Amino acid sequence: MSTSFPEKGKSRDEVLAALTQARARDRKSDGRAFAFVYDPGEEARTLAREAFAACMPINGLDPTVYPSARTLENGVVKACLELMHAPEGAVGTATAGGTESVMLAVKSAREFARKTRPEVTKPKMLLPVTAHACFHKAAHYLGVEVVPVDVHEETFRADVSDAERKMSADVILVVGSAPSYNPRRHRRHPRFRRRSRRSTARSCTWTPAWAAACFRFCEKQASPVRTSTSPSRG
Ligand SMILES: Cc1ncc(COP(=O)(O)O)c(C=O)c1O
Repeated sequence: MSTSFPEKGKSRDEVLAALTQARARDRKSDGRAFAFVYDPGEEARTLAREAFAACMPINGLDPTVYPSARTLENGVVKACLELMHAPEGAVGTATAGGTESVMLAVKSAREFARKTRPEVTKPKMLLPVTAHACFHKAAHYLGVEVVPVDVHEETFRADVSDAERKMSADVILVVGSAPSYNPRRHRRHPRFRRRSRRSTARSCTWTPAWAAACFRFCEKQASPVRTSTSPSRG
């Protein structure tokens, strides 16, 4: 495929052939990947493809022009609030990716702390060392200090006692992750054993004990940490 901007446009067949060639070495969506592709099987994959095609022309920027964007967003937000047993009056917003979601979650916690605990001038977040790198990005942009929390060497579960030791009045957010990749399953395979540490260094495991520690902390601060910033529109 040419890398320079072409003088003339390509035909449909040429465009599709170029894409097929470019994708030749990509990982297949065949349910065999342990990361990157969360494959739900052929039936759901086909439906997702058709649904994506049906919504492709939508620009969610303006729900007065595309009311479907508002309907879909509200439906997803409502389902998530139910899933999280959110309290009455909780709100949410759709985001366009993991990094944006994490940024908004950290920003929500920071704004909430600014409003309810103005005495906290150097906000911190407890972050298991296996959490995704975008938390560090959010911390950098939003002026929140990362306090790393150890994870268990074998299970990669966040170490609750380490978190409790590092808990302080400046902590505005405790990060957990659910679900996580399953480190144990692919670690058993010899091919992945050597790189298991690296490949699981992107997620941490949400355990009941870890969840309990997070909720205890939130209760103590009387501040439910929410993952939303703007009221659900419409
Ligand atoms: C757990 C987790 N958080 C955040 C991200 C970042 O997502 P994005 O690349 O969509 O910004 C990823 C991406 O793989 C992820 O797996």
